Amino acid sequence: MGYKVAIAGATGNVGREMLSILSERGFDATEVVPLASRRSMGVEVSYGNRTLKVKALENHDFADTDLCLMSAGSAVSKEWSPKIAAKGCVVIDNSSCWRYDPDVPLIVPEVNADAVTGFKKKNIIANPNCSTAQLVVALKPLHDRATIKRVVVSTYQSVSGAGKEAMDELFTQARAIFVAETPEPKKFPKRIAFNVIPQVDVFMEDGSTKEEWKMVAETKKMLDQAIELVATCVRVPVFIGHSEAVNVEFEKPLSVEEAREVLRTAPGVLVVDKREPGGYITPFEAVGEDATYVSRIRDDKTVKNGLAFWCVSDNLRKGAALNTVQIAEILVNRKLLSPKKKAA
Ligand SMILES: NC(=O)c1ccc[n+]([C@@H]2O[C@H](COP(=O)([O-])OP(=O)(O)OC[C@H]3O[C@@H](n4cnc5c(N)ncnc54)[C@H](OP(=O)(O)O)[C@@H]3O)[C@@H](O)[C@H]2O)c1
Repeated sequence: MGYKVAIAGATGNVGREMLSILSERGFDATEVVPLASRRSMGVEVSYGNRTLKVKALENHDFADTDLCLMSAGSAVSKEWSPKIAAKGCVVIDNSSCWRYDPDVPLIVPEVNADAVTGFKKKNIIANPNCSTAQLVVALKPLHDRATIKRVVVSTYQSVSGAGKEAMDELFTQARAIFVAETPEPKKFPKRIAFNVIPQVDVFMEDGSTKEEWKMVAETKKMLDQAIELVATCVRVPVFIGHSEAVNVEFEKPLSVEEAREVLRTAPGVLVVDKREPGGYITPFEAVGEDATYVSRIRDDKTVKNGLAFWCVSDNLRKGAALNTVQIAEILVNRKLLSPKKKAA
């Protein structure tokens, strides 16, 4: 057995992380094909200790490819995912293009792995938004124990969530400011270096942003339609790692001690919560790690059955590439995907 896997968007932040995670986790791939735009043809990317040359997505024939891990943005996914899927290649997509389609499962393995079987309708599986992925990993075990009524979340999102150009913008702006220049914002609506921006993605009619709307819609789709959620999404001058301040209101009582115990044994969660200076996780420490870290667990006494906590994760890993590879592993482990080419 062994699968032919294409990575569409292999030169991007998420695509490069997918290549390293596939290799780290020993995914059963007989061949890995890195794809990007025509601009990147011939660019070299690392896959474990090997170097692979990038090919153009539009030139690749998916007829004998089993799986396409897609992270090339919504427009590319809208055009290409159905064509790729029609060739019998299962697409796991990172963009927001398919997430709200009722015929496409939206999956975080620790939360709703069983829903993956729905992929057969379109041969497409969606990966959630990075902020939602880490949030639902932490909320799921708490919801199972005490039933969540309402969530209030404020995000502190790193620039890597907006792609490689956004990371370059933070770097060049910070450097310019140190030599007393006044950098012009390009990718972000205002200066990001030494600043915070209360806007992630475009504005909606009701005054919220698309990122805030995504957190509501995706939490409901994956966890429970009955959960009420309000988000304020903020971009901060951090390269990698999203943080969230979360307040949860439950139907049933849940003590801080019980919450801590539930989270300690939950898949994908690591509790680091010492009530002393530095006894919590910051995004810098989460970089390159797989866990969703939960710290600062405490009572929220302003509501009945309230809990507050701090949640941090590497947005390029659990928020994107790791989650995608975990979904691919479910397909393999549950025998939902057979390689087209049988091993000789
Ligand atoms: N970053 C995160 O935390 C995160 C989390 C969840 C989901 N996502 C989603 O994942 C996707 C990729 O994000 P990213 O951060 O990796 O972006 P990125 O660093 O800007 O990379 C974009 C990738 O898409 C490729 N691409 C662009 N246009 C293309 C085309 N016409 N044909 C083929 N390939 C094309 C680029 O190739 P070239 O180098 O050739 O231009 C590059 O490999 C986005 O949909 C994003 O919303 C990101």
